[in-house]
Amino acid sequence: MNYENEIRTCLDRFETVLREQLAREEKMEREAAAVDYAKKEKIRIGLIPGDGIGTVIFESARQVLDLLLGKKLAEGKVELVPIEGLTIENRLACGESVPAPILAAIKSCDVLLKGPTTTPKGGTDAPDMESANVTLRRELDLYANVRPVSVPGEGIDWTFFRENTEGEYVLGSRGVEVGDKLACDFKITTDAGTRRIARAAFEFARKNGKQSVAIVTKANIMKKTDGKFSRIANEIAAEYPEIAHEDWYIDIMTANLVNKEIRDRFQVFLLPNLYGDIITDEAAQIQGGVGTGGSANIGDRYAMFEAIHGSAPRMIAEGKGHYANPQSILRASEMLLRHISFTEEADLLAAALEETTGPDAAVVIDGYEGATCAEYTACLTEALRRRLSR
Ligand code: IPM
Ligand code: MG
Repeated sequence: MNYENEIRTCLDRFETVLREQLAREEKMEREAAAVDYAKKEKIRIGLIPGDGIGTVIFESARQVLDLLLGKKLAEGKVELVPIEGLTIENRLACGESVPAPILAAIKSCDVLLKGPTTTPKGGTDAPDMESANVTLRRELDLYANVRPVSVPGEGIDWTFFRENTEGEYVLGSRGVEVGDKLACDFKITTDAGTRRIARAAFEFARKNGKQSVAIVTKANIMKKTDGKFSRIANEIAAEYPEIAHEDWYIDIMTANLVNKEIRDRFQVFLLPNLYGDIITDEAAQIQGGVGTGGSANIGDRYAMFEAIHGSAPRMIAEGKGHYANPQSILRASEMLLRHISFTEEADLLAAALEETTGPDAAVVIDGYEGATCAEYTACLTEALRRRLSR
């Protein structure tokens, strides 16, 4: 069989991708300054519940924000903006990963709190719809995915800096197929894209007194893309002589995280997108499960905070969605509050989370055995009310 025409179509697609990505790289080089939230009269927080277990855990976050922000809402210093319709049903019906009116509403906000949204799987009859996360990370240019994981009893205090707008991810819905014989996806690493995430990681390390950053790639195999990532990360590292840096490969690093002998010596991790995605689920599991992992998507203009995990269609199918653990989105809410310099509110939430998840907690989330999301939330809001009335 002759594949000439199909190959031409693929080459055209490849050319488009290269031109688009080069234009994006050039735009990134004209760096924007980060927003100073302290100078804003009013901060608009967009609320996007998502779908699947998203709506369940989001309800918990909504109650917590209403409580914590009561005073600032009354003073008009902050506004909570409900954004409806970012559900898999509506997205499929509109044929858009993030329907245009929803994207416009999102862009009218400063920061966002988002519940998980379902992503259709490739290789099925479903259309190749892009993940809403990927669309939003690109549209809002949220280049740093920051994921803290800590297990104080074991000396674990990790912060992952996952590149969030490049790698295998950005073009994951735009790969090509030649007949039914061959499939090819695109992986992109740019100079400016790597520089900005590397700088974010090293700046964080410097500001927070961290001694080392682990640069994690698979540059022995992905010579061009990961090779560039590693080389540029090392160049940026040279600007931070007080911070040690080490190159690691992703495979051994996944082993390191379960190696109790050495894992507590790692502090900050800097990784390309897909490796960051995978290893942060592993790290969150070590912390107590993905249901405990918060995630911040940071850009210069916008920031979006969410749970580390997806919409858990399996839990919904089993009729167990009400057992979803809201701690992930609550930790994301804490990160949001800190990001906009609402430190007092963030500290209150952190203290209440610690109180209600510690060994003396009144209710315990434990898979399908322990408390439901609503039961845990009642306990948490009670702890918050007590603290607020002090
Ligand atoms: C994450 C999630 C998303 C991702 C999914 C839901 C698209 O796993 O934020 O880590 O793969 O980035
Ligand atoms: Mg993930």
